[in-house]
Amino acid sequence: MASSKNLGLGSSSRYSFPLRHQLQSYKKPCLKTLCQPSWLCIITLYVLFITNFDKINNMPAKQRVLTGITTTGTPHLGNYLGALKPAIAASHKDQNDSFYFMADYHALIKCQDPNALHQSCRDIAAIWLALGLDTDKATFYRQSDIPEIPQLAWLLTCMTPKGMMNRAHAYKASVDENTRQGNADIDDGVNMGLYSYPILMAADILMFNAHQIPVGKDQIQHIEMCRDIAARFNHAFGEHFVLPEAMVHDGEAKVLSGLDGRKMSKSYGNIIPLFAPSDELRRLIGQITTNSLAPGEPKDPDTCTLFEIYAAFATQAQTQAMRVRYAEGIGWGEMKQELFAFLDDHLREARENYNRIIQDPGFIESELQKGAHKAREYTVPFMDRLRAAVGIMPVGAKVASQVSKTKVKKELTPEEQAKAEAGKAKALAIAKQREAEAQAAIDERVQTIENQWQAAGGSAEALAQLCTQLEDEISQAKKKTRKQLQQVLQAVRELA
Ligand code: TRP
Repeated sequence: MASSKNLGLGSSSRYSFPLRHQLQSYKKPCLKTLCQPSWLCIITLYVLFITNFDKINNMPAKQRVLTGITTTGTPHLGNYLGALKPAIAASHKDQNDSFYFMADYHALIKCQDPNALHQSCRDIAAIWLALGLDTDKATFYRQSDIPEIPQLAWLLTCMTPKGMMNRAHAYKASVDENTRQGNADIDDGVNMGLYSYPILMAADILMFNAHQIPVGKDQIQHIEMCRDIAARFNHAFGEHFVLPEAMVHDGEAKVLSGLDGRKMSKSYGNIIPLFAPSDELRRLIGQITTNSLAPGEPKDPDTCTLFEIYAAFATQAQTQAMRVRYAEGIGWGEMKQELFAFLDDHLREARENYNRIIQDPGFIESELQKGAHKAREYTVPFMDRLRAAVGIMPVGAKVASQVSKTKVKKELTPEEQAKAEAGKAKALAIAKQREAEAQAAIDERVQTIENQWQAAGGSAEALAQLCTQLEDEISQAKKKTRKQLQQVLQAVRELA
């Protein structure tokens, strides 16, 4: 009886006996019940569904976080705070499925030095590993190991309006610079890689149907373009892609400043490499620009690069304590020493890992191969599906219906049905009338020609001449009239 109460079925329940009986006799499944064949079957199906959800649907069950780093140069403190650190933190969360990669095809756009590109790829891979990326949990790979990515990039290229690429920031910056310099060729120095950069990036993201893309603020436009391209593809070929979102971190709300006080960036040459050896770190911190206030004079921490870098790594309490020291007039020499000691200590363990890993290219390569293998388990079948969606498949295969184009048929009310029928009948009548009109026009024309022929004496030569005239007219006619004239010609020939 207890179970029926729990289910809210009192004795006055309107349920008939057999159902109540079933409900009353319902017991929680014990291990013995669960081991019975029917239960085993249900459990197996459930487990198969959960574990293969993404394969069944091609939509990921977990939140997919994906980001890449272009393999030019070596990551600096700004890259660490803006991309690496949050990405590694995200990879440890159970609700995330992380994809991190070295964007070496992207690097080719601006780097045509094979040694530099190769070295940078190895460096960046070692950095990810040194920072503690768990490569069993995350999928960690090299873009160029996944041939499906450039293949997808081509499909997407064919769905991307050229005008959209004209608006991409990096391309526009080059055009603006050429214009500013009075260069007659506004595209001077722009290669097609730079121009279609956002499409390759869209392929990186859409290849894995990623949801969240941790990027710097300068990449937001690329993510928006990616959404736009994905939506166009979905519209044309069915729902294949998830629309991704940019994930911009608090740490990046304010971009980290470099040695000269401008944004820390490879292109300004003002960076502090993440794993610079101690002596280099000390030397670079020594170069950070400060003002000319003397020791003992109170200083403003909020306009000071030294403080900014310190605060980006320190705890709130440490930052607060440093504010007090600024107010007390800490000297620049002393502050530089403080910052060096702090960073050197903070980065020591990861830097030691890095130094060890970079000596072991075999290990780095094996990690990348492991990642490529994992990634391709997904990309190979997905790319097959995408190719089939656009109609590229074996000769005997059948083109799938295009989800977004097949409108769901809804039930019609009798009035709607009558209206639809009437519409159809009207359309048919119009078509019939048009056909009759066309036939009348043909008959009329044949009649005219016949009259001309008789007037010209009715000889075979006269008819042949009329036919030649008609052929000339046909060769110059538009498609629709041409068809009609051909019918006229045929009828005229039969006059003979
Ligand atoms: N464009 C990114 C950068 O320069 C690198 C990148 C390439 C990327 N493909 C990506 C980032 C896909 C996120 C997702 O920083």
